[in-house]
Amino acid sequence: MTPTAGSRTRWIAEGLRRHRQHQGAAGGTVPADRLLRRPRFRRRARRAFIDRSTGKKGLYRFKRDPGKYLDQLIGSFGNKNLTVTDMVALSGAHTIGQARCTTFRDHLGEANINSTFAASLRTSCPAAQSTSTDDNLAPLDVTTPNTFDNAYYSNLLSQRGLLHSDQELFNNGSTDNIVRNFASNAAAFTSAFATAMVKMGNLQPLTGTQGQIRRNCRRVNS
Ligand code: HEM
Repeated sequence: MTPTAGSRTRWIAEGLRRHRQHQGAAGGTVPADRLLRRPRFRRRARRAFIDRSTGKKGLYRFKRDPGKYLDQLIGSFGNKNLTVTDMVALSGAHTIGQARCTTFRDHLGEANINSTFAASLRTSCPAAQSTSTDDNLAPLDVTTPNTFDNAYYSNLLSQRGLLHSDQELFNNGSTDNIVRNFASNAAAFTSAFATAMVKMGNLQPLTGTQGQIRRNCRRVNS
């Protein structure tokens, strides 16, 4: 099944929530929903998720040991019975939307990023940490930031992935060929994306009296 234009936004918002839960499952944090509105009418856990070690909202970051990061990603998704192809396809959700400087600042200084691309991003996301630039945004897909397409994968071929995790998918590793396939075959991407989203959507949904259906999708019911 291919998502319709109408359902795509809800799917992606749900995907954001769930992918962040993946990050949390691996590292003990699940950030609050910030950027995309959660879909309505889905049952949710009652409590907000926070970093258990610091008590603050935060995003888990995988360790960046060379060669290990991709394996950690694969393992983390595999723990949820999502395949490597599912993981690469779900990353294609980064074909739209934006990320904060804090999430890609370090990647701008890494070896596997196009230098012109990195330099242009540095103008709004300088290397020095600063609360005045931390929340500056950049499109996750530099080529077609507002179109759901497979340009995200072509970007990776030219080392123009915004996030470390993006470029990791095409970094002389086991997922290179999946990226090449999705970059050259849009239908293969959309089909794999729909399959993976359905699988992800079926992960441990709250039912019956569990959780709650929010009246305002950004807030726990009072
Ligand atoms: C439906 C699927 C997905 C959606 C809608 C989505 C959306 C987003 C958005 C909007 C951001 C920016 C967050 C911010 O700036 O605060 C982000 C960050 C990120 N995404 Fe995704 N994403 C999805 C799938 C994935 C997948 C499959 C992976 C890993 C393979 C992934 C890895 C990351 C990472 C590592 C970050 C940066 C977070 C950080 O460093 O704190 N995403 N994603």
